[in-house]
Amino acid sequence: MRSTGLIQLDVHLTDADAALRADVARGLVARPKELPPKWFYDARGSELFEEITALPEYYPFRTERALLTDSVADIARSSGADTVVELGSGSSTKTRLLLDAFAAAGTLRRYVPQDVSESALRGAVDELHRHYPTLQLHGVVGDFTRDLDRLPGAEPGGKRMIAFLGGTIGNLLPGPRHAFLTHVRSVLEPGEQLLLGTGLATDPAIMVPAYDDAAGVTADFNRNVLRVLNRELGADFDVDAFDHVALWDAENSWIEMRLRATRAMRVRVPELDLEVTFDEGEELITEISAKFRPETVDAMVAEAGFDATRRWTDPQDRFALSLLTAR
Ligand code: SAH
Ligand code: AVI
Repeated sequence: MRSTGLIQLDVHLTDADAALRADVARGLVARPKELPPKWFYDARGSELFEEITALPEYYPFRTERALLTDSVADIARSSGADTVVELGSGSSTKTRLLLDAFAAAGTLRRYVPQDVSESALRGAVDELHRHYPTLQLHGVVGDFTRDLDRLPGAEPGGKRMIAFLGGTIGNLLPGPRHAFLTHVRSVLEPGEQLLLGTGLATDPAIMVPAYDDAAGVTADFNRNVLRVLNRELGADFDVDAFDHVALWDAENSWIEMRLRATRAMRVRVPELDLEVTFDEGEELITEISAKFRPETVDAMVAEAGFDATRRWTDPQDRFALSLLTAR
């Protein structure tokens, strides 16, 4: 933990190595092979995600930013929260819209960004301190599927709002997604809020290119998980021997990203004492990105114990921002 006056940084990733080993040991022998998307985000992966947000094809980022621009004043006025917590905060770029509005409403005292990427979190906290020199910043390096109990509680007499933006909830499978929302609800007091960004299902001709851009940045981001395995576990993936695949699975209502082996190969993972083979054309699933309908968002949050207070959607119905209140 680092604590310097207004800035505090907690690192709760002590067992990250064990978690990576367990995920890889399980995922590379599964059928089909799969890896959880959180392992994309080493320093390079976090930078590649930032590049993705600037791509012309990647509409979710700028659509949500426009929704936030339109709604933050209302959110801040009606919320009254003194603490904004953000899960999967990354570079906290869009968050500045929220912080400005809560500061203008006169309630903001503390911002608590939480992310699995230590490099992204440290960069964000340093940058935010420059812009908001009097704001308490309490960064938490951790996994939002495991470490929610480590988040700081409400200040005496205070109120928190948790922001979970970007559509990152869509990167969780339905079971873990429900468990996650229920857990978020359980760490909140009744009346505290969750601001949730969700991608909405739209035309596949719009969605698929967002995950398969012409410049190949998303392909590079996808392959980055193999570089992480090479570095952290001594694996010998030939990263360039995998093609990037992005497809729309209409039945499950999600984009699926995969890495397809362009030739048969044998991959060694010495740290796990594991050797796996890939057939030519065999695919490794690296991410799902679920896209919702407004009604499915309402049902999903209601099941977890939230009331939907307000919702904002863009004119093309591609993204929704929901302000939810813990029952
Ligand atoms: N909220 C930002 C960033 C979204 S990218 C935005 O809307 O633009 C997803 C972020 O979630 C990344 O910063 C990644 O490091 C983080 N992340 C992914 N899985 C995570 C997990 N299990 N726990 C904590 N953070 C996670
Ligand atoms: C972080 N998350 C919401 C992104 C998404 O759109 O699912 C991750 C991403 N994957 C490929 N491009 C962006």
